[in-house]
Amino acid sequence: MGVVLPFDDSQPKGESIEPLVRVTAAGMERVNQVILERTGSQVALIPEVARYLIDSGGKRLRPMVTLAAALACGYRGSGDVKLAASVEFMHTATLFHDDVVDESDTRRGKRTARLVWGNQESVLVGDFLLGQAFRMMVEVGSLEALDVLAVAAATIAEGEVMQLGTAKNTETTEDEYIDVVRAKTAALFSAAAEVGPIIAGADKATRAAFRSYGNNLGIAFQLIDDVLDYGGASATLGKNVGDDFREGKVTLPVVLAYRRGTDEDRAFWREGLVEGATSEAALHRAIGLLARTEALTDTVERARHYAARAIDALAPLPATPAKAALLEAVAFSIRRAS
Ligand code: IPE
Ligand code: IPE
Ligand code: MG
Ligand code: MG
Repeated sequence: MGVVLPFDDSQPKGESIEPLVRVTAAGMERVNQVILERTGSQVALIPEVARYLIDSGGKRLRPMVTLAAALACGYRGSGDVKLAASVEFMHTATLFHDDVVDESDTRRGKRTARLVWGNQESVLVGDFLLGQAFRMMVEVGSLEALDVLAVAAATIAEGEVMQLGTAKNTETTEDEYIDVVRAKTAALFSAAAEVGPIIAGADKATRAAFRSYGNNLGIAFQLIDDVLDYGGASATLGKNVGDDFREGKVTLPVVLAYRRGTDEDRAFWREGLVEGATSEAALHRAIGLLARTEALTDTVERARHYAARAIDALAPLPATPAKAALLEAVAFSIRRAS
């Protein structure tokens, strides 16, 4: 797409998620087993649709955060595995729902389930996974963890509905957009991180530290995702570049470019996003405007700010391999370039 992204290329790309993968490897093997078991249903279409998406991969970032957070707090039980699987089920459910809402065609490098089976099937299988997630939380038996994840489930839905209000609205402010991101993305990262200390019986301050870590990591993660939507490689992203533009989504890069643009630029954004004049040529021009107004560079800068907050949040914790892996995951989220 011809956009030079301001990522630090001094390290091989993707390298920094490795410590998190390593530190959670044993637990993740069990999480993946639980995920497979719990997608089972006598209604044959449910496992078929659910496994289509689950088997396409995904980074499994959120469940790894749950396991590493529990480890960093010295947890020795087995409840972390079911909570991590619940977190990934909640994430998977939101993807099923989100692709219907966004009318997306590609997810994890494949055609979306809604194109293969239909919107109704996608919504209902998402609901099934949410239900299964809550059953597992109940089995773990921590009312506090259940509360945190239930609040997150409601908040994600609020965020998605809030985003319907900002779609095609070029007057959306940065603050409004960040509020959407806190809800639709950061709430689940935050809950994924906080249930670790909860089941480990950690004190309030430690819980708050992990909550803040997850919240700020989630915001940074989504902002980078927004940047990649205009300049990443579809193959790495597993989604189509330019989807946000075609969907008329007003993400932070657009908020900044719109504000910083000329009258002519603003007319272009309104035409493209509001009226859906989203040809390849229009996308090319949009990318040019994003570059000229430094909107992508500055979105990355904003993401770095939240990433720094995530890292500082964990400062009071003792140094452990799990903590180091969580810190590296923040760097990964910023650096996950094309
Ligand atoms: C996609 O999340 C949704 C966003 C918050 C941008 P991920 O990028 O973690 O998706 P998978 O699970 O790896 O496919
Ligand atoms: C991400 O939504 C958050 C949720 C899935 C709830 P987006 O619509 O921004 O993410 P992608 O681009 O579809 O992954
Ligand atoms: Mg989407
Ligand atoms: Mg969406």
